[in-house]
Amino acid sequence: DIVYLDGAFVPAQDAKVSVFDRGFLFGDSVYEVIPFYRGVAFGLEPHLKRLEHSLAALRIPLSIDWPAVLNELVTRNGGGNLSVYLQVTRGDAGRRTPVYDASMQPTVFACCNPIRNIYADGPDGVAGIAVIVTADLRWHRCDIKANGLLPNILVLQQAREAGAAEALMIRDGILTEGGSSNLFIVRSGVLYTPKLGSEILGGTTRELVLELARGAGIPYQETDLSYENLLEADEVWISSSTRAVVPVLSVDGKTVGDGEKGPLWRRMFELFSQFHH
Ligand code: PDD
Repeated sequence: DIVYLDGAFVPAQDAKVSVFDRGFLFGDSVYEVIPFYRGVAFGLEPHLKRLEHSLAALRIPLSIDWPAVLNELVTRNGGGNLSVYLQVTRGDAGRRTPVYDASMQPTVFACCNPIRNIYADGPDGVAGIAVIVTADLRWHRCDIKANGLLPNILVLQQAREAGAAEALMIRDGILTEGGSSNLFIVRSGVLYTPKLGSEILGGTTRELVLELARGAGIPYQETDLSYENLLEADEVWISSSTRAVVPVLSVDGKTVGDGEKGPLWRRMFELFSQFHH
């Protein structure tokens, strides 16, 4: 494995970060996960746009040619189907102190993980999943893709131990999103998803789903959704860069719709596959 760290491409075991790095000490850092299929980035621009949003929110100044760095990293890792993880921390202050100096040098790290090319296998290759619903214990800036993922890790582990593949989170009676994905519901042919704001991450895959729905004339609404809406749904989906759009077949052990991958999901998968080629 070759990783990128602060301007150099090095074997993973040779990449070292200071114990005083603020990413390590405080989670003072942001990240992105970008899929590459057959060595080519899928949706690079929206990811880099969101990264800019996250960096601006933390006021971390950074100037870097991301496309060049990421393409080089993917090439050095043999291309193919990879998800690229990148992280930018505020940097190493040489000591532990909460306040920071605006002139700090950010730490920039990126690595690759093999992923499956979902589109190559077709809709029958996608397995529907079970989800649980649990309290959203996160902060109120979930629009920032920040590395403080402890609440996400706790609910994802809770899901795993309940035999589910994702945890949907609910705050003040309103569903927000999954531990690492956005949420969609289908009811009577209409697609619904929680509206953007500081309570959810603006998913790049979520944006693509809505764009494709628009193009195909599928009606959709960005609106508040309740637990009842979820239980009464004909279809439930989650979306993320590494998983694309996945049908949810049960919620807290209760069957969604007829318990099969739904027709609108198949339509959306088809639209994704066409977009992808
Ligand atoms: N997670 N919401 C949360 C909380 C997420 O962590 C993610 C992505 C998404 C979907 O965003 P996108 O469609 O841009 O991937 C929504 C990544 C994959 C991760 O943390 O691994």
